[in-house]
Amino acid sequence: MSVLKVSNLSKAFGGLQALADLDFIVNSGEILGLIGPNGSGKTTTINVLTQVLSPSTGEVMLDAHRLTAMKANQIVRCGLARTFQNLRLFNGHSVLDNVRVSQTIHCPTLLSRLNALPMGPERVLRLEAQELVERFGLGKRMHALAGSLSYGEKKRLEIARAMATRPKFILLDEPAAGMNTLEINWLQSAIREIRASGVGILLVEHHMKLVMDICDRILVLNFGKKIADGPPELIARDPAVIESYLGKAH
Ligand SMILES: Nc1ncnc2c1ncn2[C@@H]1O[C@H](COP(=O)(O)OP(=O)(O)O)[C@@H](O)[C@H]1O
Ligand SMILES: [Mg+2]
Repeated sequence: MSVLKVSNLSKAFGGLQALADLDFIVNSGEILGLIGPNGSGKTTTINVLTQVLSPSTGEVMLDAHRLTAMKANQIVRCGLARTFQNLRLFNGHSVLDNVRVSQTIHCPTLLSRLNALPMGPERVLRLEAQELVERFGLGKRMHALAGSLSYGEKKRLEIARAMATRPKFILLDEPAAGMNTLEINWLQSAIREIRASGVGILLVEHHMKLVMDICDRILVLNFGKKIADGPPELIARDPAVIESYLGKAH
């Protein structure tokens, strides 16, 4: 069992308080939803957790590891992976190679990167990468260039790439955005499978049916502040959440 613990986290951009005193935990095998209006600080939370941005105050711990003292690549090695709201794939490389590159994060030296020794022999890694590509529904596209994929396929490849780092926790930034209903149904079972494998998930998402269906708990942000957290049934009925985000019709 691992725990991702966020304490007292704040981030200011000049005079703009994008995050204020945020506290939460995510446990292994649990999905915490992070929702809120545009600009409420969801992506900033992910950026600060992964040290793409350094926090103004606060601390992020993954078990005994203080992530806030680490560089982005060390954080991935500790077991925290993410996807990006604006996709970051190597468009000129194959689907399989995009996944293979992520596996090298655990190789500290150039030589071991070439041999990929710390995670296992080359053959094992290649099989693992192929399995991930297939698990994310891209088996037929394994050797296609990432740039030639549809938007929904690219979003799936992003998650496969994050999973290739063998994370304990994964942070998903709007995985359903731009997906059709069929793809969202598929995504829902893929996220459930990730949870079942014991990985803890922070899910930033606007698709409320997906969020309400699969999250164990939900945290709601507004103007960088937590305005509610709890199980989906309670969040859906919370007057402050309805007022600021869900709307009266929900
Ligand atoms: N790098 C940045 N520099 C300045 N302001 C930023 C930066 N990133 C985000 N912001 C601002 O912080 C606030 C929160 O943004 P963001 O976390 O992207 O919101 P969300 O993902 O919830 O839509 C917004 O007002 C946004 O304009
Ligand atoms: Mg965002």
